[in-house]
Amino acid sequence: QTGLSTLDNGFVNTAATKSAITYIDGDQGILRYRGYPIEQVAEQSTFLETAWLLIYGELPTPDELASFDTRIRRHTLLHEDLRRFFDALPATAHPMSVLSSAVGALSTFYEDTMDVHDPEQVELQTIRLLAKLPVIAAYAHKKSLGQAFLYPDNSLSFVDNFLKLNFGTMAEPYVVNPVVSKALERLLILHEDHEQNASTSTVRLVGSTEANMYSSISAGISALYGPLHGGANEAVLKMLAEIRDSGQGVARFVERVKNKEDGVKLMGFGHRVYKNYDPRARLVKESADEVLAALGVKDELLDIAMELEQVALSDDYFISRRLYPNVDFYTGILYKAMGFPPRMFTVLFAIGRLPGWIAHWREMNADATTKIGRPQQLYIGSAARDWPAGR
Ligand code: SDX
Repeated sequence: QTGLSTLDNGFVNTAATKSAITYIDGDQGILRYRGYPIEQVAEQSTFLETAWLLIYGELPTPDELASFDTRIRRHTLLHEDLRRFFDALPATAHPMSVLSSAVGALSTFYEDTMDVHDPEQVELQTIRLLAKLPVIAAYAHKKSLGQAFLYPDNSLSFVDNFLKLNFGTMAEPYVVNPVVSKALERLLILHEDHEQNASTSTVRLVGSTEANMYSSISAGISALYGPLHGGANEAVLKMLAEIRDSGQGVARFVERVKNKEDGVKLMGFGHRVYKNYDPRARLVKESADEVLAALGVKDELLDIAMELEQVALSDDYFISRRLYPNVDFYTGILYKAMGFPPRMFTVLFAIGRLPGWIAHWREMNADATTKIGRPQQLYIGSAARDWPAGR
């Protein structure tokens, strides 16, 4: 039965979400976007081409891709009142909180074009989110730096415009570093979708109530924020820095994890589905070596990460629990080398994941059999009882 997963005990899991977007085999470490292996997509494609593939199901013709790119560029400007929205927030605000709030606020500007049953309005919500999320993200970054916001530059590609919005200033022209641009494009592609992870399931659940796409994506961003999910990439860098600063070394840290001292975890390790090496982690690690060399960056945290991986992968505690590096283990080292502060790492994950969230929202929304989500419950509370007399 296609689309229905069969549980180990042979029962067909009719509760499983049916989707044609991404396939994962956790035991084999396989990840495919619409049937294409992630290794080939990451090597051959661009962020927007992959976004089209995930959202519309097939690779775009050159004209389709050009028109998609043009429509997105023409929607990069935020409403001026939304730019002022950032003035109300403290400079210390975590960029993920800013992102989820600003995307929620985005819906207030488009209330006349949020009909989830009108294909044109669904398309408009799609294009506006793809165009504006990177701008909102860059403004969250600039806000934290106390720097002036730049306006988008529609002469640049999706990735290069994002880099300029983050690292350009009003004082001088910004030149994109092609090494950083290519590496960021690849990282964003690696994050574009991942089947029914917590944030994507959140987007589908919120969307199943016929809530608009902006509100559904805002909920997905909030789910991604958690350190067990997208927030892990920021937590990995914090962990590596703590190992460095503690002076106690990797072996002692691994002992603390194995003894579960103060609930410490090996962040960036383990996965609900991958019980083998996350194929994305392998590709990110390859990029890290290339980019750091090309940028002439020597980062001792990368050395600590590689030692940590080596120790963990030869230790029965991790092997027996099938804990391997996941996509978040090396990404932070790369983002740091590109100049992003740790608090922006999960924001970068969100920008990458947006096409997947949109693809899943549209797949759910277009499916005539979709009903409002209502996860099953197993009641384990008190049996029926009477209210105490006289209370
Ligand atoms: C992402 O779902 C997705 O696809 C998510 C994602 C995506 O693309 O959307 O891939 C992105 O979220 C990747 C995961 C990033 N999170 C982290 O790196 C945080 C650290 N990882 C763990 O919190 C954990 O591995 C999870 C949450 C990712 C997965 O948890 P599981 O599969 O529910 O595993 P579990 O909690 O049941 O653990 C099984 C055993 C336990 O040991 P025992 O109680 O049996 O002794 O493994 C241990 C856990 O304590 N364990 C870890 C560990 N992860 C699991 N021990 C130490 N360090 C870890 N990281």
